[in-house]
Amino acid sequence: MMQDPEVWAADKIELDKWKAASTVDLIHHIVGHYHREARVEMARLESQADEAVLMEGVNHPVLMEIRDEVDRLCIELRNHLAVEERMLFPALLDIAEGRAPSIPVETLEPMRLLEDEHEAAAGLLKRLRVLTEGFNPPENARAAQRKFFETLQTLANSLYRHVYLENQVLFQRLR
Ligand SMILES: [Fe+2]
Ligand SMILES: [Fe+2]
Repeated sequence: MMQDPEVWAADKIELDKWKAASTVDLIHHIVGHYHREARVEMARLESQADEAVLMEGVNHPVLMEIRDEVDRLCIELRNHLAVEERMLFPALLDIAEGRAPSIPVETLEPMRLLEDEHEAAAGLLKRLRVLTEGFNPPENARAAQRKFFETLQTLANSLYRHVYLENQVLFQRLR
């Protein structure tokens, strides 16, 4: 994933500390912090995207394309969060707490599907990064576009960390 390599190296050290946490604590952290943050930032992003297109779309037509990509990302991400929270995570909590999982472990194969979705989200973010020239508004951009790009950057940074914790820490425990 594309991020400032130095910042990312520091983040990774921080995130890797979760390898020592219990599965229960890790899932609570992912949902309580990253899923909540994703939902809050997506709500801001969607209204800011529409506002930016309305106020500045005439001067910056690329904003329409960016808004459409944001819509796609938000739809996919909301589905993804729901599948994790309603199917995968409850089963993982059952296993962690010694109960028979509510869904059979073999069906945890959707994990591969979830990883594919992480890849798809990374692809959309990459495209958004290109379309926004690295989340940098053009010099003559007005407030609406600046706020929009700022939120996009916040969501992207949060997603990089979130996906790392799932792919590299949580899912590794099931292999
Ligand atoms: Fe997640
Ligand atoms: Fe995920």
